[in-house]
Parts: sequence; structure tokens; C-alpha cells
Amino acid sequence: MKSLSILSHKGGVGKTSIAANIAVHLAKIGQNVCLLDTDFHGPSIITFFKKNPETKWLNDNLLRDEPLENCLEDISPQLEVSGRLYIGFADPSASAIETNIRINEKMSFKMLKNLMKIRKELESPPYEVTYLILDSSPGTTYSTVNAMITTETSLFIVKLSNADLLGTSQMIAGLNKQLKSKSLVLANLIPKSVIQDEAIISQIQSLIENKFTKETQDKYVDFIGWIPIDESLIQTEFLEAIKTLQNQTSSRLIYTLKQPDHPFSTTLVELIPTIFEDNTK
Ligand SMILES: Nc1ncnc2c1ncn2[C@@H]1O[C@H](COP(=O)(O)OP(=O)(O)O)[C@@H](O)[C@H]1O
Ligand SMILES: [Mg+2]
Repeated sequence: MKSLSILSHKGGVGKTSIAANIAVHLAKIGQNVCLLDTDFHGPSIITFFKKNPETKWLNDNLLRDEPLENCLEDISPQLEVSGRLYIGFADPSASAIETNIRINEKMSFKMLKNLMKIRKELESPPYEVTYLILDSSPGTTYSTVNAMITTETSLFIVKLSNADLLGTSQMIAGLNKQLKSKSLVLANLIPKSVIQDEAIISQIQSLIENKFTKETQDKYVDFIGWIPIDESLIQTEFLEAIKTLQNQTSSRLIYTLKQPDHPFSTTLVELIPTIFEDNTK
């Protein structure tokens, strides 16, 4: 089983969109995938998929030892994909978020132990999962650290802003000092005019690589690519938000499923082999 956590210094850089779109693409090509929402402070995997009210939350497994089978939902029939897609949803209720704000070291360790247990269970029948993906909270929290420990590769999503570059390189340096995991950096929300200019792109790419490897003193940080900013994503989300305001049901669009030829889908799908390649710890 290959395993990946998706992390960032700042919120709103595209972690959840990237996690959901990669997971669905892999299930679409016949892989068995498990996507866990470990962003307990801002659960949002639920905005992409419909959850059966009977299914328990991932919080119930990690904090209260609820059996895994009650906390995972097989979303593949809903999406009509050939592989299985099991999702563990984080509870978005105010009381669950409040519980997670007050997590102490003992509870965090219990959650880590249960995450490791889930990882093991997923490799065996009935799941036989080949890809495990964890969507995480921004910043360095107990859940970021737990996600990194549970997975063989960490993918940091970064925006090219000074605040995010500085924060991300410090975050990787701090985490890697303790965890020594393989870290990949992916830049999202990049202006299209920049991406179209190959000379500028390769120059910026080497500057970024220098910045991350120099500041983190760590040869295990690889910069893997770019995703352009695309106004149609923002527009689609805007239209969905209007539906929600009008009390209509809505869920966020999964581009790799519904619009596989869209630049967001093609760019992301091209990066998947690099993300999962040869990253064993
Ligand atoms: N490449 C992109 N182009 C345009 N909008 C994007 C892109 N990537 C993500 N977004 C938008 O940015 C917002 C935040 O994305 P999200 O995945 O929720 O981020 P995070 O999980 O890091 O908070 C969403 O509205 C999403 O549609
Ligand atoms: Mg998110």
C-alpha cells in the first residue's frame, strides 16, 4: 500500500481539492483507495461527497475505538468508479471541533495508535487498499504530525507568496528534524502567464529547490511541479455556494471525474506517478 499525507502551512491552498481529486482518479482507474479527513479543525472532505447518516465519523474510531467498518463509507457506487473508494469523514459539528481544539498529548497519542491500526487493517480483506491518502489541517498541529508519521510520503502544497514560502520551509525543517520522512513540494494557484513561459518556470523551479533544500538542510525535499490558478474552479465553487445559500443540496465538483480534460485534472493526473514513485521511507 502506498500512503500519502497532504499538508500545508496555510489554509486555502488546495489541499482538500487535490486530495479528493487524486483519490477519485485512482479509484476511477480501478485502484482501491482510502481517503481520510484528518483535518479535524476544518473538516471539508464532506463538501465533496454525500455521506450516509448511518456511517460514523473517523473521530469515533480514533477517539472512541469505534470499529473501522462502521466509520468508513464506500463511495464508489455513488461515483460509479471501478475501484473502491473508502472515505473516513471528519465530524464538522461544533462540538467535535471543540473537542479537537482541546486535544491533549494522551488523546493525540491514542489517535496516532488508531491511525496506525487503520493503516494495517486497510491492507487486508475486505479492503485491500492500494492507496491511502490523508487530508490534513494547515500548520503544524498534532494531526499534521500524526498524518506524517502514518504515511510514507508528505506532500506540501504551497502558494508562491512570501508568507507561505517562509512558513512552509520552516514547517518542513521543523517536522523533518524529528520525523525524517520524504517531503514533496507542489505549488498551486500559480498565474497562467508564468506557467506558459518555460524559461521563467525553470528559473523559478531551481530557486524554489534551493530555498527549500537550503533552509531545511534536508536532501529529502523535492519540488515536483505546478498547478495553474483557474478561474473556472472559483466560479464553480461560487455557483455551488449560491445553491447552498438557497438551501439546495450541492457538493463540490470533482474535476478528475466530471471534467477529466480540464487543465486542473490533466496537470494533477500527470503528477500522480511522481507523487507515489519510489518514496518508501
Ligand atoms: N488551481 C486552482 N485554481 C483555482 N482555484 C483553486 C485551485 N486550487 C484550489 N482552488 C480553490 O481554492 C479554494 C481552497 O481549496 P481547498 O482545497 O479547500 O484548500 P485547503 O484544503 O488547502 O484549505 C477552493 O475554493 C478551491 O476550489
Ligand atoms: Mg482543506
